[in-house]
Amino acid sequence: MNTPAPSAGRAASGATAEQPDTAAAASAESGRPPILALQRATVRFAGGGLPVWDGLSLSVSRGESLCLLGASGCGKSTVLRVMAGLQPLASGEMLTAVRSPAFVFQEPALLPWADLERNVGLPLQLAGWTAAARNERVQGVLERVGLTGRERALPHELSGGMKMRASIARALVMQPDLLLMDEPFSALDDPTRQRLQADLLQWWQVQGFALCFVTHQVAEAVFMASRVVVMGAKGGQIVAEWEVDEPFPRTDAFRRSARFHEHCVAIGDALAGNTGSTWDRR
Ligand SMILES: Nc1ncnc2c1ncn2[C@@H]1O[C@H](COP(=O)(O)OP(=O)(O)O)[C@@H](O)[C@H]1O
Ligand SMILES: [Mg+2]
Repeated sequence: MNTPAPSAGRAASGATAEQPDTAAAASAESGRPPILALQRATVRFAGGGLPVWDGLSLSVSRGESLCLLGASGCGKSTVLRVMAGLQPLASGEMLTAVRSPAFVFQEPALLPWADLERNVGLPLQLAGWTAAARNERVQGVLERVGLTGRERALPHELSGGMKMRASIARALVMQPDLLLMDEPFSALDDPTRQRLQADLLQWWQVQGFALCFVTHQVAEAVFMASRVVVMGAKGGQIVAEWEVDEPFPRTDAFRRSARFHEHCVAIGDALAGNTGSTWDRR
């Protein structure tokens, strides 16, 4: 196996052969306080059957960009739903200091009859903001995501990339401290996807929220993440963690670099279940 140079990245603390006592402890080792930690958490759906995942310990640090990778059905979306408070645990616990979570799905899910300004301002409207206060906040967010001038556009008048920008704007408008994204760019063409990846990282750096991002693409995870967690196909175990120890902002030059490729190989190997000298398996 072509393993990365030691400086290119490293198996994160959580991937040591000895499982950390708690997910919070693993996060503390990364140098930033956790904003959320799942501890030996188990989820079961109604009707019995096997748990989706059993005894999962995973933390998100303040301001980090965490990517979750794993085969379809391994429980990634369930992790996000639990973190958003939409799915209760059957056992274990979730410690959370999150004040304002926001969720972005693969489908932009905009109201088809409402214009862009109303769609983006909807969370503020539901929270009881006045029209004037709403307008000011919405204008700022639309400018940030590059949609100024399209306020009166209806969703069907927007391109796929613009709809996703609108969906992200609607999440950013509440100034979240944790942004949960479930394969948000899967339906976009490659150039649009790459542009949005870079832009999202810029918004993440400016606003300082923690990002928890589910993707199928190894390259997307390497570009986006400060830390990648690979979930196993069965039982939702974490089979590997990898720190993408590269500076932000990430650039197109990084995407074309040998180091980028090395990270991709290491993480791709973990995803495929290959053992390599850089990986300790749980
Ligand atoms: N509401 C539900 N009721 C029953 N089973 C579910 C429900 N949601 C998800 N599952 C099952 O839980 C497993 C994990 O689902 P999910 O978290 O969506 O996986 P992923 O996002 O990794 O594809 C899958 O086997 C799925 O069929
Ligand atoms: Mg999913």
